[in-house]
Amino acid sequence: MTPESIAGAAYIVAALLFILSLAGLSRHETARAGVGYGIAGMTIALVATVWVTFQGAWDEPGTLLGLGLLVVTVLIGGSIGLWRARIVEMTGMPELIALLHSFVGLAAVIVGWNGHLDPPALEGSLADIHHAEVFIGIFIGGVTFTGSIVAFLKLSARMKSAPLVLPGKNVLNLGALVVFVGLTVWYVMDSQLWLLVLVTALAFALGWHLVASIGGGDMPVVISMLNSYSGWAAAAAGFLLNNDLLIVTGALVGSSGAYLSYIMCKAMNRSFISVIAGGFGIEAPAKGDTDLGEYSEIQAPDAAELLKGASSVIITPGYGMAVAQAQYPVAELTAKLRERGIDVRFGIHPVAGRLPGHMNVLLAEAKVPYDIVEEMDEINDDLAATSVVLVIGANDTVNPAAAEDPGSPIAGMPVLRVWEADNVIVFKRSMSTGYAGVQNPLFFRDNAQMLFGDAKERVEDILKSL
Ligand code: TAP
Repeated sequence: MTPESIAGAAYIVAALLFILSLAGLSRHETARAGVGYGIAGMTIALVATVWVTFQGAWDEPGTLLGLGLLVVTVLIGGSIGLWRARIVEMTGMPELIALLHSFVGLAAVIVGWNGHLDPPALEGSLADIHHAEVFIGIFIGGVTFTGSIVAFLKLSARMKSAPLVLPGKNVLNLGALVVFVGLTVWYVMDSQLWLLVLVTALAFALGWHLVASIGGGDMPVVISMLNSYSGWAAAAAGFLLNNDLLIVTGALVGSSGAYLSYIMCKAMNRSFISVIAGGFGIEAPAKGDTDLGEYSEIQAPDAAELLKGASSVIITPGYGMAVAQAQYPVAELTAKLRERGIDVRFGIHPVAGRLPGHMNVLLAEAKVPYDIVEEMDEINDDLAATSVVLVIGANDTVNPAAAEDPGSPIAGMPVLRVWEADNVIVFKRSMSTGYAGVQNPLFFRDNAQMLFGDAKERVEDILKSL
């Protein structure tokens, strides 16, 4: 057996472990095992790659230095990764993921450049294929790199979440693609360095523009889309490095990310093509402020009285519950109300919070029974027959404008129809907007009352009054 065939066998085992990992991660009972398979697969992949790279060259002068550099880099990168992963808050997870995607993109760009500066000895059509791989790899990597950085900036509120609407933005995106195809043909025929500089700059600009053009409400889809792009960038690097495992893994990430984006687009009632094309077809800027009237306020003791008299209560949590870490008092409140014979359930919007399943994880952490936690589609029709809805730190996911105002930037996005209940109590700190930057007419409805302050403190106040 040649060393390459042993490495090939190790790659097949690693690829199978990655598939098992994806399957495991799709259910929360098996997610832990899924992570384990992923770690095992990655360890095998790394050891096999290092071994096949250095084997046969152990006594050459540069080997020790190369290996030493590799170990030091892995240790530095690994330690930073471990440290960040340990300290990251649940609410900071999507921005961390976006940042990690940008590394994959940048790595693909660097691998592409290396493929130009240190080309393998190829001739004829094989050399043409190599040139096309270099060019395409740099382009996908570049789009992923800057796109992920913009996603990181938007998610961490360092950049406004409202969509950037440049005049003729669809033409700009399409034009960039056409220029890319033309430059690829040129580069394959005549591999000049300046063409590489140009495609890198073009990809960086396109990635930035694509994600900047997408509004706050669509960011969940953008994250899964960038996940997909990062997979394709890795696959492109795999072709250049002649590494089958990187191709397989990249394709797995690329296709699963694309499928997740598709599922999320369906859940959000968004067009898949429109989102991957940087908000293609969405030209309307957000509407200016309109006068929504007066809102009314309620204090915790009165909210407690209202709850005492209720027969059914639905709690719709959102990002604010995560920020306030209010899940524990919310779980206690749920238990107290249920002891009084009040029917209490939770309504979970598919994109409540900042990552898929965010609310479910928090509620499970606080030991809220699974059977009273329902998805939006399961509970939406029951809201009209509910005495009190507690909106805890949710905003966009309960915004009636999505259902009623076709001019709203979030028009068409399915929402929890909390306004149909007899009474709605909204827990938040101010009248400010949610993630999508859109004002919420719910707060001004006659049956809605604002309970201002930190959600955790206000729920604890209600518990005291009960
Ligand atoms: P948001 O619309 O983000 O609103 C959260 C509300 O919580 C804010 O209006 C804020 O109002 C309030 N809040 C913040 N801290 C609070 C605290 N300590 N106590 C009480 N209230 C607090 O939340 P949502 O309804 O969950 O919607 C999620 C949004 O994020 C959607 O637009 C979605 O598209 C987007 N998004 C989702 C994901 C995924 S996958 N879930 C990923 C990225 C983006 P105050 O500042 O006035 O308190």
